[in-house]
Amino acid sequence: MNIEVYYFSGTGNSLHAAKELQKRIPEIKLIPIVSLLNRDIIETHGEIVGLVFPIHIATVPVPVRKFLEKLDSKSAEYTFGLATRLGTFCVANIYIQRMLQKQGKNLDSFLMLNMANNSPTGIKPGPGDQGWINQITPEKVMELESVVQNKLDFISKIIRNKEKYPPKNVANLLSIFLERLISSLSKDIKAKLNFYTDTTCTGCGICVQVCPSRKIKMAGGKPVWQEELKCYYCYACFNYCPGQSVLLKKYTAKNGRYSHPEITEDDIAGQK
Ligand SMILES: Cc1cc2nc3c(=O)[nH]c(=O)nc-3n(C[C@H](O)[C@H](O)[C@H](O)COP(=O)(O)O)c2cc1C
Ligand code: SF4
Ligand code: SF4
Repeated sequence: MNIEVYYFSGTGNSLHAAKELQKRIPEIKLIPIVSLLNRDIIETHGEIVGLVFPIHIATVPVPVRKFLEKLDSKSAEYTFGLATRLGTFCVANIYIQRMLQKQGKNLDSFLMLNMANNSPTGIKPGPGDQGWINQITPEKVMELESVVQNKLDFISKIIRNKEKYPPKNVANLLSIFLERLISSLSKDIKAKLNFYTDTTCTGCGICVQVCPSRKIKMAGGKPVWQEELKCYYCYACFNYCPGQSVLLKKYTAKNGRYSHPEITEDDIAGQK
């Protein structure tokens, strides 16, 4: 059976989930979404086609939105979505279903894994980020991981058997309305993350390597976030800097950073 899993991951949670799924279903071919975004049409070849990604502001992240706009999923007999998230309300399934329906397809199953939060407070760090450092301790991450492993056993069975999940997928009117609202707000999102570095930056270039949108370049031995290029809000630069030298206006704490312990910066950079 030909099973394609297209993934996007900023800080490794979703890539870890995709790799763990592949351990349970070895036929899975993992394909990084970012590597395909310069194509006009992205044609699938699998009978089973899955998407693994993080939830950003209750829905799919920017690169997954771009991917779905270009997708030609003719080959797919069964589709699934697997989202990783902190654990709040989400309408990503409604958006994916809407996009697939345009091609005469359905989102057959949609599943979620609660994992560590990779950003102080989502898109704009503010006063609410005080507790972040306590949510991402190795102990908390391991607690979440054991639930993730159990849930992946369940998820892999659903996918193998091409089951519908949830069995009765009926979206309520409020969720449909919210999905439309969130989609229209995030379609051309221009929110600005004001990243900057301090004197501890060694010029190692890791932030440039991990940035999936290629927004960061080195200039004079230091990283520059180029105004004119889009950000995917993935927080890879912020979290993978080895010296915690990437800072944000309202988030300068030196010791609050998270990336999945089993996923390296090379894995993240490899998505391009
Ligand atoms: C910009 C941004 C927005 C987020 N919004 C949400 C959200 O609305 N709900 C939620 O449960 N988690 C949210 N999160 C947390 C991520 O979904 C979660 O940490 C995810 O597992 C990260 O996956 P990754 O490491 O593969 O990028 C957000 C993270 C970021 C960076
Ligand atoms: S990863 Fe950190 S230390 Fe390396 S260049 Fe970027 S900001 Fe500087
Ligand atoms: S600038 Fe940082 S947050 Fe934005 S896409 Fe690049 S790595 Fe992700």
